[in-house]
Amino acid sequence: MGFLQQLVVISGLALLVCLVQAEVHYHDFVLREENLTRLCNTNKRMLVNGQFPGPTLYVHKGDTVFVNVHNQGGYKLTIHWHGVRQPRNPWSDGTEYITQCAIKPGTNFTYQVIFSDEEGTLWWHAHSDWTRNTVHGAIVIYPQQGSTYPFPPPYAEEILILGSWYIQDVNLLVDYDLETGADLPKSDAYTINGQLGDFAQCSKEHTYHWMVDYGKTYLLRLVNAVMNAEMFFAIAGHNLTVVSQDAAYLKPILTSYIVIGPGQTMDVLVTADQKSLGGQYYIAARQSYSGKASFIAYSKFNVTAILQYIDGNYTQDPETIEFPTSLPDFEDENAAISFRNRKRSLTAQDVPKNITTRMYIAAAENQLTNNQSGSLTPSPASSLNNVTWVNPWADVLEAYYKNMTGFYTEDFPDYPLEFYDFVSDTINTTQSLLGTKVKVLEYGEEVEMIFQSSNVLNASDNHLMHLHGHSFYVVGSGYGNFDFDQDPESYNLVDPPLVNTATLPKKGWVTVRFKALNPGVWLWHCHFDKHYTWGMNTVIIVKNGPTAETSMLSPPAYMPPCDAPSTIQKKTSQSSTKQTTV
Ligand code: C2O
Ligand code: CU
Repeated sequence: MGFLQQLVVISGLALLVCLVQAEVHYHDFVLREENLTRLCNTNKRMLVNGQFPGPTLYVHKGDTVFVNVHNQGGYKLTIHWHGVRQPRNPWSDGTEYITQCAIKPGTNFTYQVIFSDEEGTLWWHAHSDWTRNTVHGAIVIYPQQGSTYPFPPPYAEEILILGSWYIQDVNLLVDYDLETGADLPKSDAYTINGQLGDFAQCSKEHTYHWMVDYGKTYLLRLVNAVMNAEMFFAIAGHNLTVVSQDAAYLKPILTSYIVIGPGQTMDVLVTADQKSLGGQYYIAARQSYSGKASFIAYSKFNVTAILQYIDGNYTQDPETIEFPTSLPDFEDENAAISFRNRKRSLTAQDVPKNITTRMYIAAAENQLTNNQSGSLTPSPASSLNNVTWVNPWADVLEAYYKNMTGFYTEDFPDYPLEFYDFVSDTINTTQSLLGTKVKVLEYGEEVEMIFQSSNVLNASDNHLMHLHGHSFYVVGSGYGNFDFDQDPESYNLVDPPLVNTATLPKKGWVTVRFKALNPGVWLWHCHFDKHYTWGMNTVIIVKNGPTAETSMLSPPAYMPPCDAPSTIQKKTSQSSTKQTTV
């Protein structure tokens, strides 16, 4: 073969490889308010394409998806692609006030969702106010064509999405609570694929059924889209083998129950190997509650679905269906901790070891002296290193890109301004500082962040720390105040799990590491919407690297315009802040 012929063959092959590796998909998401009936009440809810949960996106690793979001509903919103790293493309990360302003009713915006190394299950959700409660759906990322899973191919797959249900319009409830300084709403029930199950009023005939064939192994893709709760999950009579979390593979974990936090996704192998008389088994979930045991106002609802053998000789009488005895009790913290501690990456990982930026970040709940309307009723808040995030009225990304001053400051503290006994029961440092403070990182930095759960107000709780634009390694976690001498010795720098959302345990700490290789503006927040609404978030800005390939993409031709804060406000806006700044 001559040189030219070889070149033709090679470029032909390259083209073929390209075609196999990166497909481009186009979707329309039409948002409308539709009637849904749950708990004997019919109310309007924002839904995508009329579905609850919303449509699933199916891609292969490395694909790109364009989603045109048409907002025909009554609320402004944005859509976030949770766990998709979007290399160099913060423009489509979909975080209101951080990377864009909201898509207003009557307008549309097209997201470009760029997949890279993710493989497994992720999800998308609204990222404005509490609209994500009904605006969310799964993302399935198959291995590249021609490659396969690192386990025997399953016979079939199933998606189960855990959600919250509120009888009232939760956005209105949140708005009211912020105005008055009341606690934010707790859900009335939980859902599996939009249904509440056999134990809720007016629900039994709609209970979700997962049909299985005896002897087959299924891949269960589990998503926690709940607003404010970690969930225990189990299936009566069946073992679970967890093989991945947040679209990165784990060493298989054989278990009888799972704990999954809001934001997290897990892939689980389930073999249909049981044959009791009924052929029906409850799939059940309940809150894994880490707050004060004396605080009784959390949802004690058990949501159920049914695993049903296709040839089962079943009856519809729930008395005969087995409930999972392995489902831990609401307050069984040890069950949650021991499950979490079993996570290891499938293979040895290149964990950052030359740390250039180290941060120690205390996550606390606070109380501000005034509520949002300025009256003297104190209102709850939360903070990172004692800073309660305040949304700017134009998004941080636009302000950064266009060098607009006055929208944020670059002084988010690396350490708490004051060290105290973070886990003691008697701390009364309840005032936080209101601000829009970001952390700036150079391209390529190796970052370590140690999160410390603070017990200010005796309100220590787990926090589900989620970073946009990056996955990170959870190298260690423990109880008490972080010990800078002793605790690093327990770090796993060999095969720690690679996740996008990590549990910071109540009265404890968690250490994460990542390389800042994704230039852009990225939100870091607690995925309990309650804490996020109260200000438990910050932003990292990763600067451009030295080349075009290590720099942010240019913005799309159209970004939704920003304007002064509207009536439904998720957080205190700077212009209407009447709270005391400490
Ligand atoms: Cu699931 Cu800030 O996102
Ligand atoms: Cu939290």
